Amino acid sequence: MATALKPQTPPPLDPSHVLDRVLVLEMVRVTEYAAIAASRWIGRGDEKAADQAAVTAMRDALNRLAFDGTVVIGEGERDEAPMLFIGEKVGTGEGPRIDIALDPLEGTTITAKAGPNAMAVLAIAEEGGLLNAPDVYMDKLAIGPGYPEGLVSLERSPTANIEALARAKGVAPSEIIACVLDRPRHEALIRELRGLGCGIHLIGDGDVAGVIAVTNPETTIDIYMGSGGAPEGVLAAAALRCVGGQFQGRLLFRNDDERARARRIGLTDLDRIYHLHDLARGDVIFAATGVTDGSLLQGVKRLRNGRITTESVVMRASSGTIRWVRGDRAGDPPPLR
Ligand code: FBP
Repeated sequence: MATALKPQTPPPLDPSHVLDRVLVLEMVRVTEYAAIAASRWIGRGDEKAADQAAVTAMRDALNRLAFDGTVVIGEGERDEAPMLFIGEKVGTGEGPRIDIALDPLEGTTITAKAGPNAMAVLAIAEEGGLLNAPDVYMDKLAIGPGYPEGLVSLERSPTANIEALARAKGVAPSEIIACVLDRPRHEALIRELRGLGCGIHLIGDGDVAGVIAVTNPETTIDIYMGSGGAPEGVLAAAALRCVGGQFQGRLLFRNDDERARARRIGLTDLDRIYHLHDLARGDVIFAATGVTDGSLLQGVKRLRNGRITTESVVMRASSGTIRWVRGDRAGDPPPLR
């Protein structure tokens, strides 16, 4: 197992009757299918083919499940994504009504280059439980569990947040390790962190794993800072609802078209800072299967004897249960349709 996530305190929530227990393990099957399909494309330099394989497999697996699901975070808007678009109905249509946030392949470039931390990811909640986030950037700030609520805030400067965190941890600011996406837009942030002497764990892609890493002391990462995709922010928030920790997100708009997109899906306060429960409310299930090796999960291994191994995690907010699932199968699963 690649990590040792432990919820600090079980959240005081009644288990939902809508997210039936059976669904917890079914979610792993869905992410496993997507990860195995994408794994054929690891290191093949073809991001699109890797993504397409994961999308097709995840959709087929979802459509076999007995629920009335709606994709609220998916591959894009209806006119730009042929499958798993926002608003698409999945499942057999019979059973509980649930909302689904998904990223069949989080880390398409990583997969194409055989880098670390690519995963197949999804989160489900009762209808209305997940923020319907537009596909824009989101400024993100996350720390692990065990700190006073509100210790860090997007309303404060990076320096103020690092100093507050260092005080609470009982170390100097230079002892704090921050995870940041390696992007030109983060130049000023990186300069500020370097000025404080912080360690910076720069990642090429994959900020869902980057955010979750703050909850796992083995990664040594204390804080996640910087902007990435808003849909990935909702997925990461769903995971932190299950394992603990703090997360804040604020949508970033580069132009009027992006603002219009947010208004079209019903958002009115475009400057709002979203906290964990604004992004993922009520009972939530989060599942992920590693595609390539990473800080959270080991990737899919295609062994010489033809067997395929996988590592997945599935967690539930209402019970605080985290299950690690190792799969070992004779070969690629047969097509599901
Ligand atoms: P893809 O799976 O679409 O390649 O996204 C990877 C990712 O690194 C996300 O984890 C992150 O939120 C986003 O891209 C950052 O976007 P950008 O590459 O535009 O900075």
